[in-house]
Amino acid sequence: MGKIVTKHLHLRYGDFHALKDVNISFEPKKITAIIGPSGCGKSTLLRVFNRMNDLIEGVRVDGEVLIDGRNILDPLMDLVALRKKVGMVFQRPNPFPLSIYENIVFGERIHGDGASRDELDGIVEHSLKSVLLWDELKDKLHASALSLSLEQKQRLCIARLIAVKPDVLLMDEPCSTLDPQATARIEELMRELKHSYTIMIVTHNMQQAARISDDAGFMLLGELIEFGNTVQIFTAPQDRRTEDYITGRYG
Ligand SMILES: Nc1ncnc2c1ncn2[C@@H]1O[C@H](COP(=O)(O)OP(=O)(O)O)[C@@H](O)[C@H]1O
Ligand SMILES: [Mg+2]
Repeated sequence: MGKIVTKHLHLRYGDFHALKDVNISFEPKKITAIIGPSGCGKSTLLRVFNRMNDLIEGVRVDGEVLIDGRNILDPLMDLVALRKKVGMVFQRPNPFPLSIYENIVFGERIHGDGASRDELDGIVEHSLKSVLLWDELKDKLHASALSLSLEQKQRLCIARLIAVKPDVLLMDEPCSTLDPQATARIEELMRELKHSYTIMIVTHNMQQAARISDDAGFMLLGELIEFGNTVQIFTAPQDRRTEDYITGRYG
């Protein structure tokens, strides 16, 4: 059974039916890419997995979303615990206007139970090492996070998630503001991170999906048209609409 499984998942923004009967299963410790044209529901789907859509007025979600076998749509679900377990990285890196150090220990300060200075230092070192920023930043941990380059900011946002020990990383077009070199380095980081985390990435960059994902799903107008092994999706799609998209006939 998958790490994350959706069963007959529907999402409506008011009258607008944004996700239509999505049935998908994400394997643990793999990278799954969700591709499809703008507006097809990729970000909406990603936000289901940590219940971020709950913050939007008039949203209705039906069906089941099982993470480790538990339905996270359950109204009794502990959302703070869920969002620690399932962290999200956005298109534009959004560090807090605080020091590098304080960005990383932010979650621990809010939710933790009074970690000592040594423990916090350990969290900062481990998290920055995980995103390969430690050597670069260890001598300026108290500089503002806003002084970093875009790539460093995005790595820092990933480090900030890792600090709260998630299981699942959701990445919504995490490289869309980065140049090709920085993108390649973030992709390298993702390959590294998948040994420890289940990763789901939304991208409109098909080359990126083909390069880094193990499995891929193609969405169109709120429907999951096709899902499977990435090589198979890109070399022998079963659905004509997937083939049209990956060969650039629309989108
Ligand atoms: N907060 C919202 N309220 C109403 N409609 C929304 C909202 N967010 C997204 N939508 C609509 O849902 C559809 C899917 O959006 P989205 O998930 O952002 O697509 P993608 O990430 O694939 O570009 C689009 O038609 C979009 O206009
Ligand atoms: Mg989107």
